[in-house]
Parts: sequence; structure tokens; C-alpha cells
Amino acid sequence: MKIMRTERDLRKTLWGWRGSGDRIVFVPTMGALHEGHLTLVRLAKKHGERVVVSIFVNPTQFAPGEDLDAYPRTETEDARLLEAEGVDMIYIPNPETIYNVHHATAVTVGGVAKGLETDYRPTFFDGVALVVTKLFNRVQPDTAIFGEKDYQQLATIRRLVEDLDMAIKIVGAPIARDEDGLALSSRNAYFDADGLALARQLNGIMKKCATDMRDGRHVDEATLAAKHALLAAGFSSVDYVEVRSPNSLTVLEGGYLNGPARVLVAAHCPNKGQSVRLIDNFAV
Ligand code: PAF
Repeated sequence: MKIMRTERDLRKTLWGWRGSGDRIVFVPTMGALHEGHLTLVRLAKKHGERVVVSIFVNPTQFAPGEDLDAYPRTETEDARLLEAEGVDMIYIPNPETIYNVHHATAVTVGGVAKGLETDYRPTFFDGVALVVTKLFNRVQPDTAIFGEKDYQQLATIRRLVEDLDMAIKIVGAPIARDEDGLALSSRNAYFDADGLALARQLNGIMKKCATDMRDGRHVDEATLAAKHALLAAGFSSVDYVEVRSPNSLTVLEGGYLNGPARVLVAAHCPNKGQSVRLIDNFAV
């Protein structure tokens, strides 16, 4: 497995692989890898001959006061896990080359990127769209894999790629969960035992919300009941529990399920005197 840190080395190696007819599949990550990331890698291997994983904790998607400095960085362990999965290359760009002192370009996606996460993290998708555009330009993959755990992010990337005519196939990977249904996330590393036990309750509450709607309960009633249940369980606040159409992420008309939909949730789980923000989503 190659570990590339400069754009020059990256392009040279990719050029050689492409020249041999290999299809490049790209898995962008911020490191602190867990089983969820490894499912993305395994899916990547089915889509081409060469798998490239980037590790870059992207500062522009963190707002001031968010956990940029505390974000777990586990490069040696990440490399060990990726090598065991048979990844061909890890790309670890130098932050100064991604955002040099002259950097002055923004990438803003509308539509699916508006609302939900953006109501609470207004600049988040600007940061994601910018870094993903830059990484796509550097790696120029045939296919890129993103987890459905960040469902709105996946929809935003699909919009970005289509709107900017990027010839890259975007593949969504199903959410990997632990034995209690908690979606795997690098931020789960923050939890102590009590925090983890509470976080694990989210799955059951959201499943009940989904079942209620399938049984004919009005979407507003079911989502309100889910918010109350989260707060009653001990979550300190709930940013949203929303039901949206699965592709356009638009609000459902009529207030009742009339086809496939997605219920999306963001809630704050108290942990060690602070809180960890969990996001998750479920097909209904
Ligand atoms: O989902 C993530 O880990 C990040 O948002 C991404 C796509 C790697 C961009 O920094």
C-alpha cells in the first residue's frame, strides 16, 4: 500500500494506474477509521481495480467552537486497518497545500444542501463541497463512495457532481451499526459508558417513529413523539427529527407516508459534562 503526501506523487501514481486501464475508486475520509469506513472500502473494491482512501481533517467544514482540534487523529492505526483491507493507496494531503494563503474560492450547493444540517451548521456543506471538489480534482476517480450515515452530505455531493459535470459515479454505502443499532461514527470515540448507553437508545426511538408512520400516524405527530422520547431518555436537545423524500429531501406533501421516505435526526447526547451531537437516518 502506497502512502502519498504530495500532489506530484499522487498524480504520477494515478497516471500509471489509469494508463494500465485500472478504474480508480475513491473513499474520502477524515481518518479515525472504524468498521463503518471499512465497509466503504469493501464496497469500493467492487467498483474498480484501485482503491484510494484520503485522510484529511478538513478545517473548512468545522465552525468556530466545533471539535476541529479535538477531532481524533489516528494515522498509524488507520494505515494498519487500510493495509489489511488491501487498499492500494492512502492520500494524506498537507493542509497548507489544500488551502494555501491565496485561497479565495467557495463552492456552495443549494437545494438539498439547504435546511436540516445547514440550519444548525450554516457553513458545513460549503466546507464539504469545497474539499470534495478539490480532492476529486486531484484524484480524478471513476467512482467515489460516501456513507448514507451522512445522508444530506451524500445528496449534496450527488448534486455537486451533477451540477458541475464531474464524470464521477457516486455510490452510497448503507449505514454500518453496532449490535445495539448505533450508527458507527468517529465521534463515538468521545463517549464514556453512560454516554454510549444513552446514544444507543436513539435507534429504538427512531425505529418506533418509523413504525408509527408506517402504521398511518401523521408525520408531525410521529416526529414530535420521537423528539419527546429522545428528551425523556436524557438527550439534552434535539436539533431536528424530519421526514423527507429520499432523493430531493423535500418535505412530504399531505403529512402521511405515501411512498419511500427518509427520517433524519440530529440530537445532542450528554457525555462527560459536555455533549456529543449524533446524526442518523432511517429509510421508511
Ligand atoms: O464524511 C466525511 O468524513 C467528510 O465530510 C468528507 C466527505 C471526507 C469531507 O471532508
